[in-house]
Amino acid sequence: MSAPAGVLPAARPAQVTAPVVVADRLGGYAHLVIADPVLAQALPGQFVAVAVGDRQSSMLLRRAFSVHRADPAAGTLEVVVAAHGAGTAWIAGRRAGDELDVVGPLGTRFVLPPAGGRVVLVGGGYGSAPFAWTAQAAVAAGVRVDAVVGAGDADRLCDVDGVRAVVGAAGGQVLVTTDDGSAGEPGRVTDALARLLEEPVPTTVAACGPMAMLAAVARTAAAAQERTGAPVDVQVAVEEAMACGIGICMTCVLPVRGADGATRMVRACTDGPVIDAAAVRWDCVGAHGASVPADAVGAPEGGAA
Ligand SMILES: Cc1cc2nc3c(=O)[nH]c(=O)nc-3n(C[C@H](O)[C@H](O)[C@H](O)COP(=O)(O)OP(=O)(O)OC[C@H]3O[C@@H](n4cnc5c(N)ncnc54)[C@H](O)[C@@H]3O)c2cc1C
Ligand code: FES
Repeated sequence: MSAPAGVLPAARPAQVTAPVVVADRLGGYAHLVIADPVLAQALPGQFVAVAVGDRQSSMLLRRAFSVHRADPAAGTLEVVVAAHGAGTAWIAGRRAGDELDVVGPLGTRFVLPPAGGRVVLVGGGYGSAPFAWTAQAAVAAGVRVDAVVGAGDADRLCDVDGVRAVVGAAGGQVLVTTDDGSAGEPGRVTDALARLLEEPVPTTVAACGPMAMLAAVARTAAAAQERTGAPVDVQVAVEEAMACGIGICMTCVLPVRGADGATRMVRACTDGPVIDAAAVRWDCVGAHGASVPADAVGAPEGGAA
């Protein structure tokens, strides 16, 4: 399928061994700059899958990271890593000069509105990582940008300064929230998003963060659309657990309603991670992954043929 007019096609992914050229911190997160010309073709919303340990590693599965920024001119791609378990702790411990085995760029990208449109970026925790870069692309395309950057607490806010530098300079609003009130305004990203959506103009929302947050963003946007009458197109970068990252293992399947009204299990790694939020069956998405709705095509309970 060819890309919509004015949208760059995604680059073909490759498996590369690439050097880490910068390893430093971005707030509470590890920040790695990786040099490779193929990875550098990534577009906002896409992700990479990074191998963990050396060839003797018992950690067989790659770990997925959304692309913080990619620069084709510099030949670099950047990721932001929260040291969560053994795999991410190993990746966060890489230093300049180390090499990483990376597959990418993978998955779908955010599709920005045409010039003159409006996008609101909503990031939770490290989900904000791609948004300074996404905002840069939007501003360059003549799109008006506002943003909400949120987290559980101040330590988990990601790249507030980066988002402010781009969105603020272009005259947009950046609202910062934390659940515990330790930075910005106390409350959820959706509280701030609801205010930004009071304006009755057609809006694209691009969101990245935990699945529960993405479901809440979808509900907030639907309520705003109902109230103001202005359409809100919500694109979410989903974070379903991924094992292969390339469409083979079916670990990442998610129930999504098609244009024909039927629900099918799609692969978040290849059909996503950026998906139309209105099509996701959020009723079947939980903290430990998605379940298969009884009415899904091919469901064991006897879904539609
Ligand atoms: C599309 C996408 C983008 C992501 N972007 C980022 C990012 O920018 N920064 C960041 O820090 N993290 C990101 N993550 C989450 C990151 O991939 C997980 O935290 C990581 O896989 C957990 O590995 P671990 O070894 O630290 O944890 P462990 O709990 O030790 O992992 C054990 C096993 O469970 C799997 N697993 C556990 N949690 C997840 C998960 N959420 N997703 C996939 N597999 C999981 C691991 O692959 C591993 O096989 C992203 C995940 C996805 C799917
Ligand atoms: S992670 Fe294997 S199919 Fe998506």
